[in-house]
This record gives sequence, C-alpha cells and structure tokens, in this order.
Amino acid sequence: VNRGAKRDPSINVAAGEDSYDVDVGRDTLNQLGVRLRSLLDARAVALITDDTVAALWGQQADVALARAGFRVYALRFPQGEQSKSWALVGELLENLARDGIERDDVVVALGGGVVGDVAGFAAASYLRGIDLVQVPTTLLAQVDSAIGGKTGIDLAAGKNLAGAFKPPRLVFSDTALLETLPDDEWRSGLAEVAKSAIISGEDFLSWLERAADSLLERDPEVVTDAVRRSAAFKAGVVSGDEREREGVRECLNYGHTFGHAIEKTAGYGVVPHGVAVAEGIRFAADLAADVVGADSEFVERQKTLLDRLGLTPLCVRWPARDLIAAMRSDKKARRGELRFVLARAPGTWECRPVDAATVIEHLEKWTRAEGSAER
Ligand SMILES: NC(=O)c1ccc[n+]([C@@H]2O[C@H](COP(=O)([O-])OP(=O)(O)OC[C@H]3O[C@@H](n4cnc5c(N)ncnc54)[C@H](O)[C@@H]3O)[C@@H](O)[C@H]2O)c1
Repeated sequence: VNRGAKRDPSINVAAGEDSYDVDVGRDTLNQLGVRLRSLLDARAVALITDDTVAALWGQQADVALARAGFRVYALRFPQGEQSKSWALVGELLENLARDGIERDDVVVALGGGVVGDVAGFAAASYLRGIDLVQVPTTLLAQVDSAIGGKTGIDLAAGKNLAGAFKPPRLVFSDTALLETLPDDEWRSGLAEVAKSAIISGEDFLSWLERAADSLLERDPEVVTDAVRRSAAFKAGVVSGDEREREGVRECLNYGHTFGHAIEKTAGYGVVPHGVAVAEGIRFAADLAADVVGADSEFVERQKTLLDRLGLTPLCVRWPARDLIAAMRSDKKARRGELRFVLARAPGTWECRPVDAATVIEHLEKWTRAEGSAER
C-alpha cells in the first residue's frame, strides 16, 4: 500500500557526467522498481544485501523490482564489518557472472554502509563497471555513506584501504526502513547528523537542537527531515569533488581523527563508530578552543547537543601514546602529521595540522577527566 508516499527529487549530486539524485522519502520502497525503470535500461537487477536486512526488507524490495519487470537475482552475505573483504567481493563477482548479469544491468545495494561499500566495489569492478543504485537502510548510510561515491573494503593493515570511486546512478532513501534499526545503530547515525549540523552552520544546528528529543524518539516526520537535511549537506559538499581532490570533503571528517583513533586503539567493534565519533567531536571542540579560538559557549553547545542525542561522554580511557600512534597511522594523516578538522563557529571550519605537544596536552587532560578509568 502506498501510504501517501512522497519523494523529494530536489537533492542532486553534481559530479560532471556522473550527476545523480538523492531521493529522500517515507514508505517509498514499493516505488523502487518504477523509479529505476524511469532511469535505466537494465533487464536484470543484482539485489545485494546482508542477511539481517534480507530478512527484514529483502522481499519487499524484490517484489517492488520484479513488479516493474526486472529479473531479480538476490545475493546476500553475512552482516557485519568482516564482510568488507577481498574474499567476499570475489564471491560476489563470481555470482554476478554466474547469474549472467550484463553490462546494462544494475547492482542495487540494499543495506547499511557495509553493503554499500562492498556491493559498490563489486559494481565498480564487474565488467569494469556496471550501474549501481544505493538503497541505504541505516541512518548512517542514509545521511552519509551512500552519498559521495566511495566504496571499498578493509585490509589486514587497516579499514577502507582498498576501493574505488563509484558514483551511483541514484540514492534511494526510504526512512521507513529505519524503523527496524537497533538503538546502537540509531545513535551511531545521530553522531553523523550532529557532525553535519555543526559543520553546515547555524540553520541546521539550531534546527537539530530543537529536533533532538523527537529524533531520539524517531518521530517519522522529524527523522525524514533530518535525513533530508543531512543528505543535502553531504550532496553539497561532494558535488564537484567526487574524487576528493579539492579538500572540501575534509570537513566530513569532523570528529573522525580522534574517533578513528579510539576505534583502532580499543580494537574495532569494541566502541561503536558513532560513539567514537561523538567523543572525537568533543575532543576536537576543546582543541578548537585552544588552537583556533572557538569560544567556550560554542564548545559547550556541541557537547550539550551530543548529550541530548544520547551520545554521552565515554568513561573508558586509553594511553595517550597509543592514541597518538593510531592518529599518525591513519590513512588520512600526511607524513605523520596530526591533522584535525577544527570548527571555530557553526559552519566555519578548517582542516589543519596540530603540533604533537598540544595534542598530547589535550589527551592528558582527556585521560584525567572526571569519571574516567584507564584501560
Ligand atoms: N563509503 C563511504 O563514504 C562511507 C562513509 C562512512 C562509513 N562507511 C562505512 O560504513 C560502514 C558502517 O555502516 P553502517 O553503520 O551502516 O553499518 P552496517 O552496514 O554494518 O549496518 C549496521 C547493522 O545494522 C543492520 N541493519 C542495516 N539496516 C537495518 C535495518 N533497516 N534494520 C535493522 N538492522 C539493519 C546491519 O545488518 C548491521 O548488522 C563502515 O564499514 C564504514 O567504513 C563508508
């Protein structure tokens, strides 16, 4: 049943020949096939998803595609970060070939960031590249990872170390799919919404402050609005810089220098990504007060917002030397410099190196913070 579904075609990523829309709506999944028909010549769809999403939304997606006349080949793999591997991409490619997927056919990635990254990488490599449509099903994927054309897998040496730029033909976000998302995953996505709002500027930030309670309760309209605002923000940032050459995309790493260091030092999977990013935003906010003169009111404002989104401060700590080593080995670090995105005010940011002595000083303060215990 189409319960008054609406789609908003006004969000577009401008990337030369690779421009694409980001449709954000609610209860739109049953229109996926019709939407793809209007856009593509494909006869077959490889519907790639993980086993969790397959059980929840796989059939509805399959039916929507089949009803529009597509031959649907459903491929699924185990949920979780460990699926971002060469082995799994290899298996997917063999399956695409076995099913006879051709050059004009399309890969539909139905799932969170893991599915988007793995299925996207497979679509980028199969027959040297076939069309890809992202149908993100986590908050993180709808507000961030499905937009921007980055795909990839993990290597033993670190996360996301191999991959390809593969702009999708369409990002199709139905916020009703988020209803089944567990609370931890919900909060993880909220950290990226907070990041977008702070970097975007006063308008988005004050909206989010007003919307925080409703977002925690997952009020359908507010959720759709949050996804739309975040998606529009990301689309604006990546437009014209699909291949990350200009440096404007760096702002998307707000909170991530320290966040990634926590994830790596704790051991991947121990601290959820969003929780680590939220802690990274707190750290970067304090650092910005010191290094670029952000005022204390703005610093507190960010921390209060995170609290209200259920992203309270971490109470576990790790040794400063381990965190520094993790930051230096980050793939975004250059020549061992410690680089941070620092926000002076809503919407005003810079990405710059910060000298090790200052970072260590802040890390030591962080380690001694009230209520914390070292691991
Ligand atoms: N390509 C990019 O630009 C980019 C950007 C940010 C993050 N990422 C990547 O994204 C990944 C994280 O993405 P994620 O947080 O979406 O993780 P995920 O894809 O692992 O999804 C999290 C969990 O939620 C489940 N799930 C997904 N949709 C669901 C739904 N609607 N209902 C119930 N459960 C559902 C999944 O099965 C999984 O267990 C990381 O690998 C990260 O590197 C990529």
